[in-house]
Amino acid sequence: MKLGLIISSLLYFVTLMLMQNQGCKGCLEKERIGLLEIKHYIVEGYSYLSTKGYSYNIKELDSWVDDRDSNCCVWNRVKCFSGQIVELSIYSLINDFPDPIMLNVSLFRPFEELRLLNLSSNHIQGWIGNEGFPGLKKLETLDLSTNYLNSSILSSLNGLMALTTLNLGYNILDDNFFPQGTIYSYNLFIFQYKR
Ligand SMILES: *[C@@H]1O[C@H](CO)[C@@H](O)[C@H](O)[C@H]1NC(C)=O
Ligand SMILES: *[C@@H]1O[C@H](CO)[C@@H](O)[C@H](O)[C@H]1NC(C)=O
Ligand SMILES: *[C@@H]1O[C@H](CO)[C@@H](O)[C@H](O)[C@H]1NC(C)=O
Repeated sequence: MKLGLIISSLLYFVTLMLMQNQGCKGCLEKERIGLLEIKHYIVEGYSYLSTKGYSYNIKELDSWVDDRDSNCCVWNRVKCFSGQIVELSIYSLINDFPDPIMLNVSLFRPFEELRLLNLSSNHIQGWIGNEGFPGLKKLETLDLSTNYLNSSILSSLNGLMALTTLNLGYNILDDNFFPQGTIYSYNLFIFQYKR
């Protein structure tokens, strides 16, 4: 009886320690800064849209605040596992804008544990710089649907070794969509394509 009590209080203590480690510690500082840089990039580059009557949903990122004590794992559009960001859903922040959005994809470099990145519906036409998409080794799902991307972005995705799901639906892909086996170097099993 006594031993059982000791073991169960020990278990309770260990569980409490684990919860403190994962829940309350919050996200990595490098990832918190990374998220703020993404927000800054969008605000700096595109906030003028709202004054022109185009839709701009930066309010969705209101919880992304520059405060060291703020746990970015509970921020909107962010999902963590064991204190690191595994899902980032940055869809539909910039809509219906006539000018192309050129995204700085280097901003995603700090998120080494990322499994899912959703960039759907942002009027994105390409990436800036020639570095290509950062080699996020664990990225499994990349949703680029409903943008203005053409086939030229495919070669920039070469470093995504774990990619299994790529959604390029509703973009402006052309007839050269399957150039010399580029796409076959990915182990894609779901692939949505609609002209
Ligand atoms: C893109 O983002 C990276 C990482 O924050 C930064 O170092 C680089 O200067 C940015 N490039 C441009 C052209 O803004
Ligand atoms: C990305 O976001 C869009 C818009 O909310 C949603 O329809 C889609 O299912 C999301 N993609 C993934 C892979 O979660
Ligand atoms: C594809 O998109 C890139 C980036 O926006 C652009 O530089 C290029 O001219 C486009 N190619 C075609 C064939 O439209």
